[in-house]
Amino acid sequence: MRIAVLVSGNGSNLQALIDTDLAQYNGQIVGVISNRPDAYALQRAQQAGIATAILVHQDFADRASFDEKMHAQLLHWNVDLVVLAGFMRILTADFVQLWRGRMLNIHPSLLPAYKGTHTHRRVLTTGDRLHGCTVHFVTAELDAGAAIAQGVLQVGPHDTADTLAQRVHLLEHRLYPLVVKWYCQNQVRLVDGQLMVHQQLMQQPVRYFYD
Ligand code: GRF
Repeated sequence: MRIAVLVSGNGSNLQALIDTDLAQYNGQIVGVISNRPDAYALQRAQQAGIATAILVHQDFADRASFDEKMHAQLLHWNVDLVVLAGFMRILTADFVQLWRGRMLNIHPSLLPAYKGTHTHRRVLTTGDRLHGCTVHFVTAELDAGAAIAQGVLQVGPHDTADTLAQRVHLLEHRLYPLVVKWYCQNQVRLVDGQLMVHQQLMQQPVRYFYD
């Protein structure tokens, strides 16, 4: 399973995937694409000996031409699975369709709650007791594809947006490698738009509760 990771920033989720023994699950990260030349994630990839490509979105006339170039790079690497890990660009519907069922994202909330940004602050404002992260298939609608798995934590009375961000990040580093391993083992699939996990049709994501 040849995997490409798309990044824009720090890349701690990329690091968690690099630190996972994906080879044991027939997986390999073959390339990292960043739309930002200064993304620290690029250094992480280079240190791990992974090929990188920098595609600066401002260099392209429009979203479509940027996505076409990215698609060409993915084909060049012969990629089977695209993993979005802090990639801060909205993708065109055409690109998403080309990678339908073969592209994952991680989002810092218990989807469908809190799509978009500032999730931790919004959880506190609402007063939710539970928060976490979701790994989902990517569809053209933002943060709306089939949710595969969620890491769940309890919001404490002393939590702030910053502490929640740190705690959710730690969950992400456990959850994302797990789901990528499942994918590598053919344990996660979209079949006719329906989510299958471990050969079971899923109406809800698999949930893990962490302290
Ligand atoms: C994570 O919080 C993830 O949920 C969101 O972007 C952030 C990426 O963090 N999609 P990092 O670059 O992997 O550290």
